Amino acid sequence: MSQPSDSPVQEQPVYGTDTRRTSPLPAALEVSGVSKAFTHRRKVTPVLNNVSLRVEPQEFVSIVGPSGCGKSTLFHIIGGLETPDAGTVSMNGRLLTGQRGEISYMPQQPALFPWRTILDNVLLAGELKGALGEGAREEARQWLDKVGLAGFERAYPHMLSGGMQQRAAFLRALLAPQELMLLDEPFSALDALTRSAMQRWLLELWEANRRSVLFITHNIEEALLLSSRIYVFSGRPGSILHTVDIPFPRPRREEITDSPEFLKLKRQLSDWMREEQEKGRK
Ligand SMILES: Nc1ncnc2c1ncn2[C@@H]1O[C@H](COP(=O)(O)OP(=O)(O)OP(=O)(O)O)[C@@H](O)[C@H]1O
Ligand SMILES: [Mg+2]
Repeated sequence: MSQPSDSPVQEQPVYGTDTRRTSPLPAALEVSGVSKAFTHRRKVTPVLNNVSLRVEPQEFVSIVGPSGCGKSTLFHIIGGLETPDAGTVSMNGRLLTGQRGEISYMPQQPALFPWRTILDNVLLAGELKGALGEGAREEARQWLDKVGLAGFERAYPHMLSGGMQQRAAFLRALLAPQELMLLDEPFSALDALTRSAMQRWLLELWEANRRSVLFITHNIEEALLLSSRIYVFSGRPGSILHTVDIPFPRPRREEITDSPEFLKLKRQLSDWMREEQEKGRK
């Protein structure tokens, strides 16, 4: 495998919002100037502040940021479940703010339908889009087997552990027909070994069949392993503090996590995250 270049870490980050990219194709996702506040009993809480970000076609992009900084809220806005107070969301150059059904979305809580079996939950997105081709059930069965859910095809969600439900919800997003996939901490409930296996499958699958992905995680190593770019969010109200291009060539394998360049980036991102968390405590 080729080694990553040994350029200094300071050269990687680009500060502020990402204005350098002038791709000839419209972005798979473009979030532009999004702000949002929630009002509860007359108390206004600003949650997102002027967030602009892009996911190019077939690009894997991650968001990291302190708990409560508005990451899931941003996904709700992109998915059309919440409306922003300011700003817009476009997909493939089309303005879509507030519209639903355009993305494959795995929410932070697995949100499986309790009255559907695991297999039927996994197949749901394809069914809704009328895109359940020949072999879809068999493909879903093979995936359930791969992620350790063999024998649970006909079980109902309440019969599964939290981590098993999370894997089923992940498969549902993975097998959905939409080109843009939003994953909100998809592996947070998994033990370290299962998490690492799921990361490997996601990486292999994405490299074989590239979709556009926006991925939220608290795990910096996971973000570095999977992403082409990472947006680092500030504490609430969330805004983009740093945009970091990840230089490692693809296909990527877990070995890169031992390289000096990887460790350097990991340290830099961890320092930024710690600073934000400390600011939040003051
Ligand atoms: N529907 C809502 N009504 C009122 N407040 C909300 C609503 N949704 C989210 N919030 C508030 O917005 C803030 C951001 O929440 P959000 O879930 O987006 O954070 P997050 O970055 O995803 O955090 P975590 O990393 O813990 O998942 C929190 O203070 C939360 O209480
Ligand atoms: Mg969240």
